[in-house]
Amino acid sequence: MSRAYSLLFQGVFRRMDPERAHELAFSLIERAGTVPVLRDVVQGALAPYLGQRAGGPGSVRVFGRVVPAPFGLAGGFDKNARAVRGLTMLGFGFVEIGTVTAHPQPGNEKPRMWRELDVRGVRNRMGFNNEGAAAAAERLRALRSTAAGRAIVVGANIGKSKVTPPQDAPADYATSARLLAPWADYLVVNVSSPNTPGLRDLQATESLRPILEAVRVAADEATAAGTAGSRRVPLLVKIAPDLADEDVDAVADLVLELGLDGVVAVNTTIGHDRGPGGLSGPPLLGRGLEVVARLRERLGTGPVIIGVGGITRADDVRAYLRAGADLTQGYTSFVYEGPFWASDINRALTRSAGSTASGRYE
Ligand SMILES: Cc1cc2nc3c(=O)[nH]c(=O)nc-3n(C[C@H](O)[C@H](O)[C@H](O)COP(=O)(O)O)c2cc1C
Repeated sequence: MSRAYSLLFQGVFRRMDPERAHELAFSLIERAGTVPVLRDVVQGALAPYLGQRAGGPGSVRVFGRVVPAPFGLAGGFDKNARAVRGLTMLGFGFVEIGTVTAHPQPGNEKPRMWRELDVRGVRNRMGFNNEGAAAAAERLRALRSTAAGRAIVVGANIGKSKVTPPQDAPADYATSARLLAPWADYLVVNVSSPNTPGLRDLQATESLRPILEAVRVAADEATAAGTAGSRRVPLLVKIAPDLADEDVDAVADLVLELGLDGVVAVNTTIGHDRGPGGLSGPPLLGRGLEVVARLRERLGTGPVIIGVGGITRADDVRAYLRAGADLTQGYTSFVYEGPFWASDINRALTRSAGSTASGRYE
């Protein structure tokens, strides 16, 4: 953590309500990416820190794109696709927006986000507060209308609307997929948030199969030949660290059976006694690595694995890559490490580019 950010964190952010601090930091990042004058200033100031280029050392060929660096931003930070450019300027190799739901929704009542300072973690029960898939799709459409916006690798993470009963989940996910597929480099079906009642039950393969099938059809229809984003959009599923090993295997088998493109592992854990919501940050690292290694063993080299959970430094990313991940993401340590966190990690990785289990590394 830089000394300046350490002082800012101790003196200002730590004293603020965590969600307010997030909103403040978020609006600065959003503006740095959208206001042209600010963008030039910030890009100029960050230039010495940002070495990675698509095709340069450390870049990864995946999803039919070259991802400039293997460490990206995890779902939940930019739920409405407002700050994709600003986040990329901070050095994330790619950005996953969402979770987005078909219907706009306010999320759970506040407070719903807590710092767990002793473990440098966060606990949250946000409940997919977001402006809905149509709003996010419109922002991604605008992003893709510029060359700089098209160059960014963006995933879209979709979840079930709270008002939708479980039996209607496939159609609800399909609505979001149809809207977002034309503008996304990959889609993630999130069935692992602990904060929408019953959502994690959708990880059971008999519930998951119809959802993934409906999303595949909707994405294909939305990106058919002759449409704006004509191509086959890769489809991944995001799973919880709390699944039993046999259930991780069952998801992997379903990925192979349905010809899915990969898995994002892992979401927050409910395996703690700190209060309501899912815990994230360093306590997740061990189980995250275990789940990724298990998935890679079961999946073989084909499907993409995005490893997430407890990454604080470049060595943690290296551990995920060794376990079999192709790409990695983080969220919680951004809060504690500050604005140079992603670029520090990706620069360290670029200097020591190696190989992953699947050989997609440049
Ligand atoms: C405040 C907060 C909100 C989150 N919201 C989402 C979300 O909307 N969708 C999702 O798939 N994951 C969400 N996550 C989980 C992260 O994407 C990630 O899987 C998890 O935090 C583990 O990574 P980390 O230890 O680097 O934070 C959220 C995490 C946090 C801390």
